Amino acid sequence: MRKDLIRKYASPVPRYTSYPTAPHFHAGIDATVYRDWLANLPAGEAVSLYMHIPFCDSLCWFCGCHTRHTLRYDPVALYLESLLKEVETIGGLIGDRSPVTEMQWGGGSPTMLSAADMQRLVNAVRRHFTVAPDFAFGVEIDPRGFDIGRIEALARSGLTRASIGVQDFDSAVQAAINRQQSFAETEEAVLGLRRAGVASINIDLVYGLPHQTRDSVAATAEAVIGLRPDRIALFGYAHVPWMKKHQSMIDESLLAGPEERFAMANRVASLLTAAGYARIGFDHFALPSDSLARVAADGHLRRNFQGYADTPADTIIGLGASAIGRLPRGYAQNATATGDYMRRITAGDLATVRGIAFAGDDALRGFVVERLMCDGVLSRSELVHRFGAPAGEVIAELSEFAAADADGLISEEAGVFRLTPRGAVFVRSVCARLDPYLRQGEARHSMAV
Ligand SMILES: C[S@@+](CC[C@H](N)C(=O)[O-])C[C@H]1O[C@@H](n2cnc3c(N)ncnc32)[C@H](O)[C@@H]1O
Ligand code: SF4
Repeated sequence: MRKDLIRKYASPVPRYTSYPTAPHFHAGIDATVYRDWLANLPAGEAVSLYMHIPFCDSLCWFCGCHTRHTLRYDPVALYLESLLKEVETIGGLIGDRSPVTEMQWGGGSPTMLSAADMQRLVNAVRRHFTVAPDFAFGVEIDPRGFDIGRIEALARSGLTRASIGVQDFDSAVQAAINRQQSFAETEEAVLGLRRAGVASINIDLVYGLPHQTRDSVAATAEAVIGLRPDRIALFGYAHVPWMKKHQSMIDESLLAGPEERFAMANRVASLLTAAGYARIGFDHFALPSDSLARVAADGHLRRNFQGYADTPADTIIGLGASAIGRLPRGYAQNATATGDYMRRITAGDLATVRGIAFAGDDALRGFVVERLMCDGVLSRSELVHRFGAPAGEVIAELSEFAAADADGLISEEAGVFRLTPRGAVFVRSVCARLDPYLRQGEARHSMAV
């Protein structure tokens, strides 16, 4: 890849886990609006639940997630009471109109919950919602301290997929990010989950961390390939110390620049593809037997706040502090601070504090962004078929982009727009070109490579 292009497209852009993106959410979407959105969910609309557990028993300095450090269980137990109450409130609003086809627990570390509390939370969901028989259930797992009791509780609750954080096995890197994690404890978690019958296991890796080199990321990737997870996520380290104060513990002089980051990502990607993993979107890999690879091959891959997904559900209900939901009318986010969230929920209210209602051509551009991020292919006829005449403006922008695209990111042939292999690498920047909100906004984002 030409160095000038890497530098040009390294400039910060959103990760497009939503469109419009979160910096454009505003306080006009509050509990009253959200209550109305929930009450008007079309009957039979499949729903995916996302639950956020914002606690970790040790804080990794690179972490960009919404979480807080605690060594005591009391704050977690107290938080769980609010989550249970929110399950009851939202379940009451939706009633039995919408089947829950999927549930995802993220964080933070949902594995901070005790085995008994995991079971209580799942039982509450089953009591207050109508759970579909082929319910998919995924949990983000910190393998450090993950024990057999928790594995069994999750398996009994119907866990179908697990996502395990690794990041890097190199000891210098682990010291620099304050995350000590042995290969042995990671392997134990993978084997334990497999023995418990969990069908799909994902491992998260990160490149661009302090002290990483092409060789060190390759060594971690080789070790992970040896565990044969069904999926691997390869994230570029997002260094945003203006948003995440603890990232200032990371010595910036140890961080690689865009060209080296690009080389690290490429090295890992070649190892993974040589080992039989298919590339999914711009930062995921999956064995061809895994459902993520199968939906990607069929053109049904989705992108949402959890990254790439195989969910058929358009509607996501976010529960817990900072959780974001997507309803037919727009996005809604709960209060970020756990105390604020808990106060609102205990008062019997919803905790929505911001969001955005879809307006103008948001749904159209959201569709374009999602398809580019997922498949890299869009046809004029499909856009017109789905969105009618208003699709014309975006089609004209895409056409103009393809015609004047000196960098070779996107082509147009026989009415089909297609990202080139280079465009697929810089897909976030391609989407940014089609995002009018970005031109208005002041938000700061992370590097695109
Ligand atoms: C909630 S954590 C995963 C579960 C568990 N807390 C753990 O760390 O094992 C979500 C994932 O986001 C990724 N992540 C967190 N902060 C990041 C950052 N600043 N840049 C890129 N990826 C990040 C990591 O790969 C991490 O595994
Ligand atoms: S990476 Fe995982 S364990 Fe580490 S601080 Fe973030 S959420 Fe917690």
